[in-house]
Amino acid sequence: MQIRTVPAYQEMSAIAAGMIAAILRANPAAVLGLATGSTPIGTYDELARLCREEGLDFSRASSVNLDEYLGLDGTHPQSYRYFMDEHLFDRVNIDKARTAVPSGVAADPDAECARYDALVKSLGGQDVQLLGIGPDGHIGFNEPADEFVGPTHLVDLDPSTIEANARFFASEAEVPRRAITMGMDAIMGAKSIILIAAGEGKRAVLEAAVQGPVTPRLPASILQNHPDVTVLFAEQNG
Ligand code: F6R
Repeated sequence: MQIRTVPAYQEMSAIAAGMIAAILRANPAAVLGLATGSTPIGTYDELARLCREEGLDFSRASSVNLDEYLGLDGTHPQSYRYFMDEHLFDRVNIDKARTAVPSGVAADPDAECARYDALVKSLGGQDVQLLGIGPDGHIGFNEPADEFVGPTHLVDLDPSTIEANARFFASEAEVPRRAITMGMDAIMGAKSIILIAAGEGKRAVLEAAVQGPVTPRLPASILQNHPDVTVLFAEQNG
């Protein structure tokens, strides 16, 4: 595990985007594992700039996102599909048909989980998976639990996650209580992983994840078992 601390959010974002761009240049048909939340916004801004100004080509790339709120369809402004369109997909030359986000409104959510795992497998897994980390140590929406869950699955969001994500909604009551998340099998199956985190508020959970015991009570700690993880921490957020 490589751990790099930089002072500024923008520097962290530029490094993460540069690593993803290098993977895409080496393999224009790369499979990009993507995340939502506040932290990757700067990374996506930089990827959009590289596409616009330096011709970084997404036309043959595919992407798979980590998660989606249950009950929100892609037209809902707080859905993760909407987020990805807004922050990345509509700003680069990716073929949207090759961008995947779990459906939050599938008639049969369990079947949607199985479909999603089959899709990731059919793509050969992610060449790189971008991750953020939640205040409770979650990655994707793999919340603290008694055991790591391998497949894509439905989760009840932790109260701390609902509270943290309320900032994106009109009120905490509007935050969906359940989500679909990629499980640990697909995350750990990525060839490389970049975990980004910014601000002092994330320092303690990040330190515990990279230095403490590997435990499902702190889901990000599983990354210690992956052979190619880069952790980028920005001391200032924004
Ligand atoms: C988002 C996701 C989450 C976030 C995490 C950190 O797709 O899977 O694990 O990465 O909640 O969110 P921010 O970046 O908003 O602090």
